[in-house]
Amino acid sequence: MDLFEKLLQDRGPLGKHSQADEGYFMFPKLEGEIKPRMIWRGKEVLTWSLNNYLGFANHPDVRKADADAAARWGAAYPMGARMMSGNSDQHLQLENELAQFVQKESAYLLNFGYQGVVSIIDALVDRHDVIVYDSDSHACIVDGVRLHMGKRFVYSHNDIESLEKQLKRAERITAESGGGVLVITEGVFGMSGNMGNLKDIVALKKKYNFRIFIDDAHGFGAMGPTGAGAAEAQGVQADIDLYFSTFAKSMASIGAFVAGNRDIIDYLKYNMRSQIFAKSLPMIFVEGARKRLEMLRTQPEHRAKLWTIVNALQSGLREKGFNIGTTTSPVTPVLLRGALSAATILNKDLRENYNIFCSVVIYPVVPKDIIMLRIIPTAVHTLEDVAQTIQAFSEIKHKLDTGAYVNHEYAAKMAMFDA
Ligand SMILES: Cc1ncc(COP(=O)(O)O)c(C=O)c1O
Repeated sequence: MDLFEKLLQDRGPLGKHSQADEGYFMFPKLEGEIKPRMIWRGKEVLTWSLNNYLGFANHPDVRKADADAAARWGAAYPMGARMMSGNSDQHLQLENELAQFVQKESAYLLNFGYQGVVSIIDALVDRHDVIVYDSDSHACIVDGVRLHMGKRFVYSHNDIESLEKQLKRAERITAESGGGVLVITEGVFGMSGNMGNLKDIVALKKKYNFRIFIDDAHGFGAMGPTGAGAAEAQGVQADIDLYFSTFAKSMASIGAFVAGNRDIIDYLKYNMRSQIFAKSLPMIFVEGARKRLEMLRTQPEHRAKLWTIVNALQSGLREKGFNIGTTTSPVTPVLLRGALSAATILNKDLRENYNIFCSVVIYPVVPKDIIMLRIIPTAVHTLEDVAQTIQAFSEIKHKLDTGAYVNHEYAAKMAMFDA
């Protein structure tokens, strides 16, 4: 059979929606400056779907630092991989600053978070080792685990008993193989907003021999007394063996880093294939990240403002009887009970009639009868934005509960997604 023909018969779990939804739900274009109110299909919408937690994306000082770096260095510099020809004083300086900020000895830059995580996992373990990881882990962790040639055990999300059971299994294997154990979790889970149960996980180090690697993409900058992330928030940053964050969220840029003790970071520098065989992070992003990090360190008001909005939004939603799950971070899931077909109409109503743009998460990420509206509050949202959203959500919930989103002509059209 022709390979491409076979692929096009079933375009994949997301691809099968492409014809009906492209430009609307899939690959929508948010235009204008990055701020809470942006332009979508020619009209202004209130956006809650950008991980611009601290509002840095469009901050004038950040924009200036990016523009200055672009004018001075262009987009190319430095050329080549870090190891071969792509190193610079600024890369090294940023690494020192990041390490200091997350209270680790050393840090290493990664040109993309996703590939970075895949490659860190790949570099850390061989077939004698065992990976034990949280069931709700991000795709980049799952892909890193997929490359692993040895055993991998998944534990139920944030469930310490389940983790302990898997650590016992891992121990039995490594006792024979002579390998080690790597535990992987997220600092803040990007869908539920739950923090990883880091305090309880690291407490298990007293009983079991393992190293812990956390992906704190959603915690860095937003969580903890200084913004150093979820482990800092739980008072266990010193017990995290490897700390990772992307620059794609609080830092509102691109790139990432991993931090830990000097010896293990040096090991990773010489063994992460995604960095050895790929171009170094361009100077625009290095200089831009230094500016963002300086602001993160010296201007705690951005984080304070973020939390003002988070607290207003989350307490406002709870007061109105919304189920926002068990979030302990800015990520705010709003869980509604309704069919997949209703989700599409509800989202359309939200965008067309209430001018609110947020991500709607459906099966298989959540159970079939749950519609999850995922809200990402930021430091640049206002209390008026919060009030407008809670009012709109109350109205759409009422419509959902009273059946307004079923037996609608649009529902019939969308029923094909209900497979
Ligand atoms: C938890 C988590 N890890 C890693 C990544 C990937 O980072 P990047 O966008 O820098 O590739 C993301 C998404 O950005 C994420 O949410």
